[in-house]
Amino acid sequence: MSDTVSDGDKLQRRRFLKWASGIGAGVSALVVGSPALAAFFSPALRKLTPKGWIKVAEDISTIDIGVPIKVDFVEAVNDAWVESRALRTVFLYTDDGKTFTAYSGVCTHLGCSYEFDAAKSRYHCPCHHGLFDMKTGAVIGGPPPRPLDTLPVKVENGEVHIMYQTYLSGVPQKVET
Ligand code: FES
Repeated sequence: MSDTVSDGDKLQRRRFLKWASGIGAGVSALVVGSPALAAFFSPALRKLTPKGWIKVAEDISTIDIGVPIKVDFVEAVNDAWVESRALRTVFLYTDDGKTFTAYSGVCTHLGCSYEFDAAKSRYHCPCHHGLFDMKTGAVIGGPPPRPLDTLPVKVENGEVHIMYQTYLSGVPQKVET
């Protein structure tokens, strides 16, 4: 056996080291550039999404009185590990065009999406036929264990803003998740 390293071996070793340092630099760049990856490698960098007001109506004067309106919007969700977008739904209801109630569009039974049944003036969840009062959100039929979940709502400069929040389904109390 020989201790002599051939020129070919040296060249191969140099190529390998160059390749390995390139991979290391790439991983570092990803960690710095991606909050999710940075959080994975350094829990101290974890960042939770701040809750904030979301505009769901531009002009209160155009909102029907005494009839719920459905508003769909996209919310950016960042739990530090995954950054994604979620489609949310709320129902806005007003009796006077000035003060509003906002209901989360998630059924309190097992989390299905429900709809407003205009013919019967009530909300109907198709999954297990849960029924809710149009105005108060109270359960008027089916298995839901509590009324619809109300969300914080405010009117500012003629716009309606809500604070979106999710709650545990299937339990009688309103518990934030
Ligand atoms: S999920 Fe709505 S009634 Fe069951």
